[in-house]
Amino acid sequence: MKAAVLLDYEQPVQTLDVELMDPKPGEVLVKMAAAGVCHSDLHVIKADLPLPVPLVLGHEGAGIVEAVGDGVTRVKPGDHVVLSWVPECGECYFCQISRYDMCDSAAASALMGAQRDGTTRFQLAGEEVYQFSMTGTFAEYTVVPEASAIPIRKDVPLELAALVGCSVMTGVGAVINTAKVRPGSSVVVIGTGGVGLNVIQGAKLSGAEKIIAVDTMDRKLEMARTFGATHTINAREKDVIMTVLDYTDQLGAEYAFEVIGRPETIAQAYNCLRKTGTAVVVGIASPNEEVCINAFSIPSQAKTLTGTWYGQGNPRIDLPKLLDLYKAGKLKLDELMTRTYDLSQVNEAFQDMLDGQVARGIIKF
Ligand code: APR
Ligand code: ZN
Ligand code: ZN
Repeated sequence: MKAAVLLDYEQPVQTLDVELMDPKPGEVLVKMAAAGVCHSDLHVIKADLPLPVPLVLGHEGAGIVEAVGDGVTRVKPGDHVVLSWVPECGECYFCQISRYDMCDSAAASALMGAQRDGTTRFQLAGEEVYQFSMTGTFAEYTVVPEASAIPIRKDVPLELAALVGCSVMTGVGAVINTAKVRPGSSVVVIGTGGVGLNVIQGAKLSGAEKIIAVDTMDRKLEMARTFGATHTINAREKDVIMTVLDYTDQLGAEYAFEVIGRPETIAQAYNCLRKTGTAVVVGIASPNEEVCINAFSIPSQAKTLTGTWYGQGNPRIDLPKLLDLYKAGKLKLDELMTRTYDLSQVNEAFQDMLDGQVARGIIKF
């Protein structure tokens, strides 16, 4: 069985034959149909996300249940599933208060690159191979916890359904669950890649009046218009904050989203807000970065600076709902899938993402 494995940081990903173990109690074996290529996978390659290697990459994906371990009740063989990369434990403090995105157990397992019991399901020549966020979707088959296998309607092609597993949930959830954008608002979105385009369509869905997209590539800004941006700023050509002021009657925006993961653009999101505005950090910066914010502005401008992890969602409820919104014509998925790849072309898919060639690249199995 083939999987795309990161053997060492900063190295090309290798498509290798790996062994997969049977699902243990509470786990599900999934035959992958499609996996999205996300910038978070690239963060792992660059060691910005501190995960162990060798590791099967991929955390956005959809497939068909092949077999289930003892005690699994939520899915059965033949079910179509989208994988959640934050499979909640249901027991920790944050699960108790229904903040499944903050599940301590899921975060600890993700850091270990292992399943909840601390062991892995992939092996290469008898050695353990770790798994990205208990999913590892860049593989023909994978074993995941029951809470990761979210059953979905069967009338959405699996390569489109895969997208709601990370980029759509993260982007749309940042707007609806975290910022709770109100109709008529002004919204700035900095970084219009696979996730940022979903922040834009989330803002449109929420009835935002002005959606100002910021990117360094004109091709990305054109995509942003397709997803609902009303204004665009090429950050290489124009001063972002001055231009946002011009577009918002010199007040600044009510909401700003950073969807890259860099300290400078996080500060930019905060600084382009009007007093009392809300900035939401979606992008994942490396754990040793710091953001510089003017101290006096904190009390005198009363802004909110917050973040969102997996769109602050409840995957079991929200992933199927996002697919319902797609079927109702209210969310774009077809336009996100710019190009499909074979598993062996995964490095090309990363390069296309960096070159701004795709909204989202999808690996099809
Ligand atoms: N200013 C504006 N835009 C920028 C800048 C910059 N300084 N630097 C990069 N960008 C743009 C890129 O041109 C690209 O369009 O940010 C976008 C990033 O998009 P992708 O590479 O497709 O990344 P994506 O998968 O959307 O992830 C974005 O969200 O979930 C997190 O880990 C993920 O940190 C990552 C972020
Ligand atoms: Zn992702
Ligand atoms: Zn938990």
